[in-house]
Amino acid sequence: KPRVFSGIQPSGNLHLGNYLGALKRFVDTQNEAEFETVYCMVDLHAITVWQDPAQLAHNTRELAAGFIAAGIDPAKSILINQSQVPEHAQLAWIFNCVARMGWMGRMTQWKDKAGKNAEAASLGLLAYPSLMAADILIYHATHVPVGEDQKQHIELTRDIAAKFNHDYGVDFFPLAEPVIEGAATRVMSLRDGTKKMSKSDPSDASRINMTDDADTIAKKIRKAKTDPDPLPDSYEGLADRPEARNLVNIYAALAEMTPEAVVADHAGQQFGQFKPALADLAVDKLAPITTEMSRLMADPAEIDRILAKGALQAREITTPILKRTYEIVGLVASV
Ligand code: TYM
Repeated sequence: KPRVFSGIQPSGNLHLGNYLGALKRFVDTQNEAEFETVYCMVDLHAITVWQDPAQLAHNTRELAAGFIAAGIDPAKSILINQSQVPEHAQLAWIFNCVARMGWMGRMTQWKDKAGKNAEAASLGLLAYPSLMAADILIYHATHVPVGEDQKQHIELTRDIAAKFNHDYGVDFFPLAEPVIEGAATRVMSLRDGTKKMSKSDPSDASRINMTDDADTIAKKIRKAKTDPDPLPDSYEGLADRPEARNLVNIYAALAEMTPEAVVADHAGQQFGQFKPALADLAVDKLAPITTEMSRLMADPAEIDRILAKGALQAREITTPILKRTYEIVGLVASV
């Protein structure tokens, strides 16, 4: 079976963009049963920017609860916390020596996050994509479901695999493909349709958090920025209306419809009508996940047990791949 790998950072504020762009699609892929699926909380990626230690530990368990509440079944998928599977970081070091500085410096996420003061950014933030390549390739995974914003990193993963294979004259690491599908591959801020929904936006009203209660979800949708026009009768009519298009895309992804069908169903409606329908749908789909998340969070020891078991399963895959990599590179390993 081809292997699927993907990850989410436990840096707080798991939001609707993460859910629709990633988590919900992880669940769908798991249930399609034609893939072996490995899903990961990437705590080592989170610490590329400062994380309060107690908060990081809390966020990691809460994210694990989010995965399970959304439908990731530890009996069907391998569910892990990155730092518990040391082969990720071990392979990342080798990739740090394969990848070039220039490749890292060209990443748009690096440029956005490091900003003008790149000198003060952590070295880990620059090397971030190399660890991400290791996450994927330590499983020889070939399919990586992500939102639009991760596409460049997966392309870099392919470059690293290709350079490794070329430098060492092997055909060892596969070229992984980003799988960017569905109506919500780039969910935008509820306050500004030109900015993506993000955990770091200072305005909490810009995003729907997976921990928001039903009233908060409904209120944020009611207050979402829109324009005064009614919904058009075709999706193309939304081309220059980013806020309106975003709400239609969110509706489509939640309802598992195409955006075209959503527009057809609601053609001519004002947002005063469409927003309550969207709020009902969002509460309907998200509230059960939120409730289940807090139920799971009441027993953190059980979450830790699930992750420990996941790490053991993962290491059955990662240990032989790392061992073979060491042989290829000429690192003398213990026998
Ligand atoms: P992260 O934690 O920023 O986001 C997790 C996933 O959510 C998607 N996403 C969105 N999708 C649609 N609309 C949005 N507004 C939105 N915001 C976030 C992201 O595209 C991502 O799929 N580097 C990764 C984590 C990672 C990883 C990996 C992913 C580490 N190793 C290996 C895949 C494979 C990240 O920071 O995602």
